[in-house]
Amino acid sequence: MAADPPSFASRDPLSPQFWDERFAKSFTPWDRGGVPQALRDFVVASPRPLSTLIPGCGSAYELVYLCNAGWDAWAIDFAPQAVARGRTLAGQWGERVVEADFFAWQPPHALDFIYECAFLCALPPALRPQVAARWAQLLPPGGRLGGFFFFDQTVKGPPFGIDRNGLQTLLAPYFDCVEDAPVGDSIPIFVGKERWMVWQRR
Ligand SMILES: C[S@@+](CC[C@H](N)C(=O)[O-])C[C@H]1O[C@@H](n2cnc3c(N)ncnc32)[C@H](O)[C@@H]1O
Repeated sequence: MAADPPSFASRDPLSPQFWDERFAKSFTPWDRGGVPQALRDFVVASPRPLSTLIPGCGSAYELVYLCNAGWDAWAIDFAPQAVARGRTLAGQWGERVVEADFFAWQPPHALDFIYECAFLCALPPALRPQVAARWAQLLPPGGRLGGFFFFDQTVKGPPFGIDRNGLQTLLAPYFDCVEDAPVGDSIPIFVGKERWMVWQRR
């Protein structure tokens, strides 16, 4: 039988304290523990290294993979505990894990790619238009937003699921969907409820 989750003082996922507390208590059910196959396939298929941002990076396993592949990648998170963990795991790439708010951080160079993994679904649905607008602001025409999108009907979160029409409505003002595929290596909280998608900035 699964153990009960620990108790938490912070209930507001908009605050860094909410996430800090969960990292501090090692309660991170969203953490995939490594680099998903769909991202590996995307990197292998890419004709050139891409300047990449990982918003809300958590453990930031993907940063190491991307940097080792020669990509100019940066990972940001606003929770100090997440940044500390990400930096430790990133080893020689640790300086590329930055404590910053996604809505304020300025990339050092123009971005080609934003990697989405359990960031949109971490935030309350009311914030989604702001997230989409910021993605669009950070990417030039032709730039891509790619990663894992969580589809679910439950109101309680995080993770907060979205439905297909909701995601289309959210992103259609800025992006066209250019890849949409099932995911074969989901972890339990996402299994059967997520898709690998890539959206291209118009
Ligand atoms: C569900 S976790 C996902 C972490 C990681 N992407 C993963 O898949 O393991 C969401 C992360 O987003 C971070 N976060 C939430 N709002 C943020 C914001 N406005 N700016 C930067 N990071 C944020 C949290 O601190 C947390 O580490």
